[in-house]
Amino acid sequence: MKTPDKVTIPRFAKMKREGKPIACLTAYDWTLARLLDEAGIDLILVGDSASMVFAGHDNTLPITMDQMVYHTQVVSRAVKRALVVADMPFLSFQVSAEEALRNGGRLLKEGGAEAVKLEGGEQAAETVRRMTGVGIPVMGHLGLTPQSIRALGGYQLQGKGEKEAEAMKKDAKILEEAGAFAIVLEKIPASLAQSITSSISIPTIGIGAGPHCDGQVLVTHDLLGLYEEFTPKFVRRYAELGRTIREAVSRYADDVRAADFPGPQESF
Ligand code: KIV
Repeated sequence: MKTPDKVTIPRFAKMKREGKPIACLTAYDWTLARLLDEAGIDLILVGDSASMVFAGHDNTLPITMDQMVYHTQVVSRAVKRALVVADMPFLSFQVSAEEALRNGGRLLKEGGAEAVKLEGGEQAAETVRRMTGVGIPVMGHLGLTPQSIRALGGYQLQGKGEKEAEAMKKDAKILEEAGAFAIVLEKIPASLAQSITSSISIPTIGIGAGPHCDGQVLVTHDLLGLYEEFTPKFVRRYAELGRTIREAVSRYADDVRAADFPGPQESF
């Protein structure tokens, strides 16, 4: 059952108007989603980062629609309060607005998401307009857009030059006009994120975009120290669960090997 203080799309705009920072994190499974929701996270993103931190790929390109639907189903089943947003995977929305509608619709109908996120600015605007027009809330994503990793050639800072910054500000405005309810700004200078945040009425959610966004998002596995392949500069580690798990598991293995587990209290 949903809680009475359930986070909804209209509540997002209100949070921006009232200057209440929005706390967002990623989840791909029931157990973690439930913990994040119980801890009071406002938005849980079923990110296509699952391709990397859940499935072990080098980038976000391989994850499929069916896999995103599955992750979204298990997260939605766990969440009572947070807004659940599902990422549209690579090539699920770029080919045509029709395909985007069908795939976005699946994430709501089959996955139980309350909104979808897709990467891109002006080139995605018509798709955003069509999706929001049929009642699929859309979150935009500008700056470092990991689905373009092959074109970008790496995960470097975006929006550094004046021309690039102006284009991103224009893209943010276009997404707002197309009906997006929020925009993720990834790995851009804090000053540019501040300027975009003050120029649009929908919330900006930063990741590596400094302190002036309306909200912040991180990949939960980074914040908890579960994904240890690399830690971007913009991540703050709040726990070292990778180390904790290794230590716990090796103590268990030692106990089994020493015939110390199970003991009388764990036996019938
Ligand atoms: O896939 C993801 O986790 C994301 C966040 C990094 C914003 O898009």
